[in-house]
Amino acid sequence: MTFKTLDDADLAGKRALVRVDFNVPMADGRVTDDTRLRAALPTIEKLRKGGAKVILLAHFDRPKGKRVPEMSLKPVVEPLAKLLGAPVAFADDSVGPTAKAAVDALQPGDVLLLENVRFEAGEEKNDPALAQALAANGDLYVNDAFSAAHRAHASTEGLARVLPAYAGEQMRRELQALDAALGAPKRPVLGIVGGSKVSTKLDLLNNLVGKLDRLAIGGGMANTFLAAQGVDVGASLCEHDLADTARQIMATAKAKGCELLLPVDVVVAEKVEPGAASTVRDLDAIGAADRILDAGPKTLARLIAAMDASATLVWNGPLGVFEVPPFDKATVDAANHAAQLAKAGKLVAVAGGGDTVAALNVAGVTEDFTFVSTAGGAFLEWMEGKTLPGVAALNEQVG
Ligand code: 3PG
Repeated sequence: MTFKTLDDADLAGKRALVRVDFNVPMADGRVTDDTRLRAALPTIEKLRKGGAKVILLAHFDRPKGKRVPEMSLKPVVEPLAKLLGAPVAFADDSVGPTAKAAVDALQPGDVLLLENVRFEAGEEKNDPALAQALAANGDLYVNDAFSAAHRAHASTEGLARVLPAYAGEQMRRELQALDAALGAPKRPVLGIVGGSKVSTKLDLLNNLVGKLDRLAIGGGMANTFLAAQGVDVGASLCEHDLADTARQIMATAKAKGCELLLPVDVVVAEKVEPGAASTVRDLDAIGAADRILDAGPKTLARLIAAMDASATLVWNGPLGVFEVPPFDKATVDAANHAAQLAKAGKLVAVAGGGDTVAALNVAGVTEDFTFVSTAGGAFLEWMEGKTLPGVAALNEQVG
């Protein structure tokens, strides 16, 4: 990887404009999950230690270029200051005189959060004029927002072209972990892709079958593959119109030497309710009213054996309806097994993408995985093999 990191930067007295991802879950104006705030701490601390003035730049939600008071980043200030153990100043704008005055008041080691950069119409358009206006308040640019790197916006891409640009610590960790999982992985590599719909993961599946040694498909999307092979999936979620697509993915997997692991048994119920009566069924015994809600024990055992036989695991998406016990069992058991292997140094286990992190949190194993990405959409786009503009801009600076 060719990007510059903070170890390459002269920080003392410099105004460091740091793009972080503080697009955090909030309810009633309070942060309800501070994972992304905690992810930004190593970069902020490193900059403070180096004597930089830290200016944090972030988006929240999708205000579409207008000032939307409910989408202010102000509620982030207090929890961030608490985590940091230091005051965090706030400016009501990301550019203009208010931002400038707040930046001018900073001393080395101070931290300032600028208001939601998506209040500016130029942000999502990647307007060079906005990049210039933002750059006026910085001597260097640090991109620590891997999870927003799939957006070519002024603060995620444009800025890297007008200021000396560096990858922050979280960005560096994400890129290194992802490289270890799919770039230059230890083989054999096993992928787990779950979730409800094949239609949202077509590019991802097509890319992965060319890179992995084995790919386990779980969740509702596995039903589409089973149905495409002639299995009667009863009343289960299934995209029957994608049968041809599923068959094409299976054929590509075969041609590229990627072994596909589809469910060999399933857990069914008639209702998706906590504690609902459920039954394990073989594939030829699924009833008309049955809904497949989790992978069965034989499928789970096979997946665990595949983990034991692998050196690397990359995981996106749950294997069942993990939000509703008992249909979390396959996901939780598989996550526990992967975590144990990772902890014992036998498996590089990397996971990411919205639901996946929530599922691993249900299993309580996030800490034991080798790496769990803070990214949703960016993780998926990376798994699809796409170039992330925010990362590309960092790399191009060096070349
Ligand atoms: C995310 O939460 O995935 C990132 O912050 C990107 O947000 P966006 O989808 O609104 O661009």
